[in-house]
Amino acid sequence: MRVLVTGHRGYIGPHLVGLLKEAGHEVVGCDLDLFAGCGWEPMPPPDREIIRDVRSLTPRDLDGFDCVMHLAAISNDPMGDLDPEITRSINAGGSIGLARAAKAAGVPRFLFSSSCSIYGQAEGRPLAEEDALNPVSVYAESKIVAEEGIAPLADADFSPVYLRNATAYGHSPMLRIDLVVNNLLGCAVAKGDIRIVSDGTPWRPLIHCKDIARAFVAFLEAPRGTIHNQRVNVGGDAENYRVRDIAAIVQRLVPGTGLVYTGEVGKDPRDYRVDFARLGRLLPDFQLEYTLAAGMEELLARYRAHGFSSRDFDGDQFVRLRTLRHRLDRVTGGLQATTP
Ligand SMILES: NC(=O)c1ccc[n+]([C@@H]2O[C@H](COP(=O)([O-])OP(=O)(O)OC[C@H]3O[C@@H](n4cnc5c(N)ncnc54)[C@H](O)[C@@H]3O)[C@@H](O)[C@H]2O)c1
Repeated sequence: MRVLVTGHRGYIGPHLVGLLKEAGHEVVGCDLDLFAGCGWEPMPPPDREIIRDVRSLTPRDLDGFDCVMHLAAISNDPMGDLDPEITRSINAGGSIGLARAAKAAGVPRFLFSSSCSIYGQAEGRPLAEEDALNPVSVYAESKIVAEEGIAPLADADFSPVYLRNATAYGHSPMLRIDLVVNNLLGCAVAKGDIRIVSDGTPWRPLIHCKDIARAFVAFLEAPRGTIHNQRVNVGGDAENYRVRDIAAIVQRLVPGTGLVYTGEVGKDPRDYRVDFARLGRLLPDFQLEYTLAAGMEELLARYRAHGFSSRDFDGDQFVRLRTLRHRLDRVTGGLQATTP
């Protein structure tokens, strides 16, 4: 099939391009390359690359594709707060505009990269797709607005799917260390101790970034009737962890790591568990390849092979927010006016 992947030069994108190519699909990538120069390892190249803002794509650009996989976004909660207007424009307006353009071009399937962050903060049982949403950031709100704006476009010829991904971790050629697992493990490797800005009890659903990519491929290949206009949590029931569980694995993998819980209520109030039963019902053959411990072991080996240092940990290369802050001018100056 012919697939357009937006955000293919981000953290999850290279895994997705690689898997799609391996499965024999033709892949075109579209990315603004906001993190140019931040790469860790070579990325698998798509068949064709469009370095452009997704908000400028027209139905003509999307003609002839069997599926659009839309990952391009300002991609986490603190980044979303850096400039709420840009976040809303790209993540909400831009996603709805792209879905409209895809539908107008006759693209039959549109896989939207949403997030479990939209559940935000919730006590009690794990949350399923029909449970109340409680966004605690502009980022999470923007994903909800996008889902709600795309859903009315669904019809017999256009099948959107909303993949509400758990928080990603693990090795990628475009590593990020602003994600909780990668951050704690990287800190232990680089500095020998970790500091947790909470009491360690908040829950977080976690998933390896390559498993997110595998889910996108599974939704591409699933029968249309199964996935049409579905909201689906993407992760595993056994992969909800407390932050202190992550810290315990770090200490096991990197012996001698010091650990301090500050007990503060940090800037990130997210605390929730997620129910992934619908994913199992819709795609019974889909299984996660990684448990958290296995994914962390793999990443640890890559950190060690790269000689990951304090300089790497404290620098800009692997922290989206720091890079974006420097490049905000580029985003505001040239691109905001192109919002559809
Ligand atoms: N990483 C996670 O934990 C996680 C969890 C749930 C959902 N998601 C979602 O998955 C998607 C990918 O996440 P990621 O971690 O790979 O993010 P990332 O920040 O690493 O990559 C995003 C990519 O999108 C590109 N981009 C941003 N705005 C663009 C625009 N207007 N036009 C074209 N390209 C643009 C960036 O250049 C970047 O390469 C995002 O939609 C994110 O919200 C990520």
